[in-house]
This record gives sequence, C-alpha cells and structure tokens, in this order.
Amino acid sequence: MHLEWTDSGDAFADRAAAHVASLLAETPDAAIALPTGSTPIGLYARLRTLAEAGDIALVGAHYFNLDEYVGIAPTDRHSFAAFLRRHILDEVDIPADHIRLLRGDAPDIAAEAAAHDAAVAAQGGLDLAILGLGSNGHIAFNEPGAAWDAGTHVVPLTEATRMANAAYFPDGFHVPSHGLTMGIGMIRAARRVLLMVSGAAKAEALGALLDGKPDPGWPVTALVGHPHLTVVADQVLRAGR
Ligand code: GLP
Repeated sequence: MHLEWTDSGDAFADRAAAHVASLLAETPDAAIALPTGSTPIGLYARLRTLAEAGDIALVGAHYFNLDEYVGIAPTDRHSFAAFLRRHILDEVDIPADHIRLLRGDAPDIAAEAAAHDAAVAAQGGLDLAILGLGSNGHIAFNEPGAAWDAGTHVVPLTEATRMANAAYFPDGFHVPSHGLTMGIGMIRAARRVLLMVSGAAKAEALGALLDGKPDPGWPVTALVGHPHLTVVADQVLRAGR
C-alpha cells in the first residue's frame, strides 16, 4: 500500500488527479470506475482543468460508475449517474460509447447488474477503481458484512448511509432503501485502486485499513494486500497515527 498524506482541498485533489494522469499516460484506453460523494468533487474539477489545458486525455478511457440507487433513473438529478455527468463526464466530451452507468430504474435489476459486469469484462476488467470511503468502512455501497467475492449486485442500504447521503439533498429527497453496487470482488480485481479519504469522520475506517487486518466488519479492509493500492488521505486524519 502506498499512503500519501496531503493538505485538504487543492493538494488532496491534485494528488489524486496525478494518479489518474499517470495511469492515462500509460494506458490511454483504461477502464475506470468512478465514485460519487463529496470526496471526489475536487478531483473531478482538477481533471476538467487538466483536460481543458490539454494536459490529460480523458476521452480515450472507459468509465463505469461504482454504484447507484435502485429505483432512480439516470436522468433523475439525484442519481449517481447524473452526478458523474454533471461533475465530469458531460464536461469533457467523453464519447457516449465510453460511458457505462448503472440504470437504477432498470425493470430487471439483476440483468442490469450482470450487464454492468459484462461491460467491465469486455474492457478486460478495471484498470483503476477510484473509491471514496464511508465512515462505517463501506466502499461503493458494500456495507459491513458484505461478501468479498461479489460482482455487481443489489444491497440494502444502512440507515447511517441513507442519512449521510440524504444530507446532500436539501430538497428532501428520500434516499431509496436499496443500492446497486459493484461488489468487493470486482473492486479488488481492479489492477489499481485509488482510495480517497477526507475528513475526521473517516478516521476510524481509515484506521481499520491501516491496521492491516482483513475484517468483514470493515469492508475497506478487503483492500489489505492489494498489489497496487494508493491511499490519498488528508492530514486531518493523520493525528494520532
Ligand atoms: C456513498 C457512496 C460511496 C462514497 C461514500 C462517501 O455512500 N456510495 O461510494 O464513497 O458515500 O461519501 P462522501 O465522499 O460524501 O463522504
């Protein structure tokens, strides 16, 4: 594991963007899984700036979302798909056939999950999974106790996760009871993993990873021993370590 402590804000986003840039320099057609949440917003802004300046070519890569709310259409602005389009995908003219976003409102949700796995497999698997971290250690929507060998599947969301996510929507959006998520098996199979961790609320979850003991109660510890794991963490979390 390669761990980088940074200041929060620009430095945090810049470090993460540098990892994406170095992957794309090596593998311009990389398959990349993208997270939602507040943590990667600065990264996406930085990638847009780099792309506009011609310092990075995002258009050759293939993009997948890590997770989505069940029952929410990609066109709904509360969806993770819409989030990714707003923050990055529609802003840098990625070709439509390089984007595969889960359809939370698919009539056959199991078929949708299987189609996501097949689309990733068609690209030869993920070159990079970019992850945020839940305060309970979740990665994507893999909550504590999740299996570590799964592909994309439906999961019930914990009350804590639903409340944390509702906080982003002052319009009273009712967070669905279930999510659709790439499983830990698929995430672990990514050739590189970039875990972004920001804010004091994540201290315990990051601590579980840094302790280095795989524990299904902390899904992030499934990444222990990954051959190419980079953790970019803000200094706030360094205290006491
Ligand atoms: C959500 C997402 C995760 C994300 C996490 C942390 O539940 N499903 O993929 O990493 O929240 O979000 P934030 O970065 O806003 O703390």
